[in-house]
Amino acid sequence: MRLLVTGGCGFIGSNFIRYVLREHPGDEVLNLDKLTYAGNPANLRDLAGDPRYRFARGDICSREDVENAMDWGPDAIVNFAAETHVDRSIVDPEAFLVTDILGVFRLLEACRERGVRLVHISTDEVYGSIEKGSFTEESPLRPNSPYAASKAGGDLLVRAYVRTYGVDAVIVRSSNNYGPYQYPEKVIPLFITNLLEGRKVPLYGDGSNVRDWLYVEDNCRAIDLVLRKGRTGEVYNVGAGQERSNLELTRSILALMGLGEEKIAWVPDRPGHDYRYSVDWSKVRELGWEPRVTLEEGLKRTVEWYRENRHWWEPIKSGEFRTYYLERYGEI
Ligand code: NAD
Ligand code: DAU
Repeated sequence: MRLLVTGGCGFIGSNFIRYVLREHPGDEVLNLDKLTYAGNPANLRDLAGDPRYRFARGDICSREDVENAMDWGPDAIVNFAAETHVDRSIVDPEAFLVTDILGVFRLLEACRERGVRLVHISTDEVYGSIEKGSFTEESPLRPNSPYAASKAGGDLLVRAYVRTYGVDAVIVRSSNNYGPYQYPEKVIPLFITNLLEGRKVPLYGDGSNVRDWLYVEDNCRAIDLVLRKGRTGEVYNVGAGQERSNLELTRSILALMGLGEEKIAWVPDRPGHDYRYSVDWSKVRELGWEPRVTLEEGLKRTVEWYRENRHWWEPIKSGEFRTYYLERYGEI
């Protein structure tokens, strides 16, 4: 297959490109990425020189950039390009509306014109928070942050283009991912790298909020399956069955790193903080998918990766991220 991967220099996109080229040696990938603060060509440095991989810097909101990429003749687009950090969406939402809604519109237009399949990567956050039980793909969308609302907007456009124009599109909504190459603004890499730097970890509120932790490679396998076997017009939830409160998660990280709870800095809660996300993933299970990596195993691998790849995250933390961090967390 020839795949146009958008946002492939980010966390999940880069893991996906590596996964696809490993599992499907005959595939080719064109990676279209704007290289925002979250996009890092170093995430795919190991593919330099691989004739099956090419990169184009460009914006999914630009008609010209998208058309140039479509001229390459992909069989499908897999769209990871997005603004993704909830806290940033609370401070400055506009970029979220632009990329996560208008960008999706641009890609849908291109798919409509050229008859190309779209796999749109979305999130469990579009359903909002749930105290007990799990959301199915039929649950209503009740997003609570500007990020989640923008992602929900993109999802609704995908639905409309399938129904109105017969575009061949599917949506994947996954739970919280973690693993190598995740930008250290997200909780797991932030906490691990802070501890490696000798800092404390800023835990929001009372630490009781719950997330379901999915190892990134498990998600890549699910996305790949939906790309090849998912039914047009359908949504597929992807979860891990690894729910933990943030305090439980923090304790696991501290234990793995041989540190104690004095390393926790309790900080004010995130506004509109969703209490719990949980999705029912029986539909993707029917396609033949199951998560393979437990949180214990995945965290072990992740701590190890950040320990061994300081050259990857140190420049990030001392660059753009430093200003963001100081404004947000001060000297923690
Ligand atoms: P990320 O922030 O690490 O990377 C996003 C990438 O998109 C970056 O490379 C960035 O440069 C690129 N990008 C941003 N705006 C662009 C634009 N206008 N045009 C082209 N490229 C652009 O994101 P991630 O965590 O890898 O998330 C990927 C996707 O998965 C997103 O759609 C996100 O909503 C979704 N998702 C993420 C998680 C998670 O836990 N990380 C969970 C569920 C769903
Ligand atoms: O559920 C999928 C979503 O997961 C994705 O769609 C988003 O792109 C991704 O950012 C993630 O959103 P969360 O808000 O759940 O992830 P984050 O890593 O920002 O926070 C996870 C939990 O940890 C959340 O309850 C807030 C808490 N937290 C986070 C940070 C950054 C802290 O307690 N302290 C922190 O410093």
